[in-house]
Amino acid sequence: MAQRTFWIYYILLLNTTIQMVNGGFRKLFHKDIRYERLSLLNFTEVSKEYGYKSEEHTVITEDGYVLTLFRIPKGKNCHFTVQRTPVLIMHGLLLSSDSWIDSGPEAGLAYLISDDCYDLWAGNVRGNYYSRNHTRMNPDVDPEFWKFSLNEFGVYDLPAIIDYILDYTRSIKLNYIGYSQSGGSFVIMCSERPGYCAKVSVAIFLHPAAKMTNAKSQALRIITDVYQILEPILHNPLELEALPKGGYIQKITHDICQNDFIADKICRSILTMLDSYNPGSISVSTIRALTGHFPAGTSVRVMAWFSQVLNKEEFQNFDYGPVMNMKIYGRNQPSTYNCNATTAPVVIIHGESDNIVSKKDVEWLKDQLPNVLEVVYVKNPLWNHFDVPYSQHTREMLYPKIGEYLFKYSGNGVG
Ligand SMILES: *[C@@H]1O[C@H](CO)[C@@H](O)[C@H](O)[C@H]1NC(C)=O
Ligand SMILES: *[C@@H]1O[C@H](CO)[C@@H](O)[C@H](O)[C@H]1NC(C)=O
Ligand SMILES: *[C@@H]1O[C@H](CO)[C@@H](O)[C@H](O)[C@H]1NC(C)=O
Repeated sequence: MAQRTFWIYYILLLNTTIQMVNGGFRKLFHKDIRYERLSLLNFTEVSKEYGYKSEEHTVITEDGYVLTLFRIPKGKNCHFTVQRTPVLIMHGLLLSSDSWIDSGPEAGLAYLISDDCYDLWAGNVRGNYYSRNHTRMNPDVDPEFWKFSLNEFGVYDLPAIIDYILDYTRSIKLNYIGYSQSGGSFVIMCSERPGYCAKVSVAIFLHPAAKMTNAKSQALRIITDVYQILEPILHNPLELEALPKGGYIQKITHDICQNDFIADKICRSILTMLDSYNPGSISVSTIRALTGHFPAGTSVRVMAWFSQVLNKEEFQNFDYGPVMNMKIYGRNQPSTYNCNATTAPVVIIHGESDNIVSKKDVEWLKDQLPNVLEVVYVKNPLWNHFDVPYSQHTREMLYPKIGEYLFKYSGNGVG
């Protein structure tokens, strides 16, 4: 415990130091930085650059959040008719839809899926830079905007996005791909919103995060613990937003990681420290590109919720402490999600070297879910958490299984 307190003070001090150094660094070097062009562009612009036609859609949730949804209706290399069942792909913690294109057309899942003739939709949950808007609240002014955790992704964002896509494409069902937190939020949706699970033909979970007790990453534990401690004492809307794009952490990471040598050595070792080492998997140009889109911002409460699931044996709603829990949930403890409500067929794909979502926790989730078709471990034993969006080997390592199930559960017959 004393050691943890030490690290928390250390991080707060480091935080202040980085903030100061950042100001000086930017003044001195900013004009000399040659940014990876793609890191400065949004989903639509990057896709256009690669020759993919994409669309932007706006979804409004029941509670007024304005979310951006991107669509690639037909991939550049799709030469057949597009399958009727649309595919929705949802990003991980502190990421956005851009994580599906940052590794380029040879590896980005948004391109692989649309090139395989699926109608590809890439969503963004509330709070990241594409979904930082509301019909009534202003994220810069209203602290209420930031009062959400994974619960709200599952209860409001996913149902709104799913309904929008089904309505727009006049489809009865869609296929869902959820990476990390978007596996967990799908399970939350099925638990809390009866009927929504039935709108999904197959749900493919990539390294799903639900209960995370066995995560090996100490760095992730320390960072999220800091937010857990800060969460109840922060009130200012600018403090309730965690790690936004355009914030100093994102800016300094973006600036520093543009140098090839630094990107390869220093920026890669930050990813390694958070996760694990898989040499050569993520290319230097992808590291340079992704730092323009990561971290993408979320709420402090989401970060704190991760600290909670890292420490508890339950997959639960946000824990406010006994007094507030009583007011909100009518009991001392937060409500627990019914994993058994995930009636849609689920395929889980995972990698053995993932230090954020461990194999044990994936096995736990598998045992909770009533309709798991298959749990697949990626062939490369070094495959880790960040490889899912960013590896240059997704086409061989990840896509064949995804493609197999999308095909089985699309169009005619099934679903
Ligand atoms: C992306 O960039 C294009 C071109 O600059 C712009 O028109 C569009 O509004 C941007 N989209 C989003 C969602 O920011
Ligand atoms: C925020 O959403 C509203 C729709 O409720 C829209 O009118 C407004 O233009 C959006 N603001 C930004 C900055 O996109
Ligand atoms: C699912 O689990 C909940 C509690 O965990 C239980 O009350 C419910 O009966 C279960 N439902 C089914 C269909 O097994």
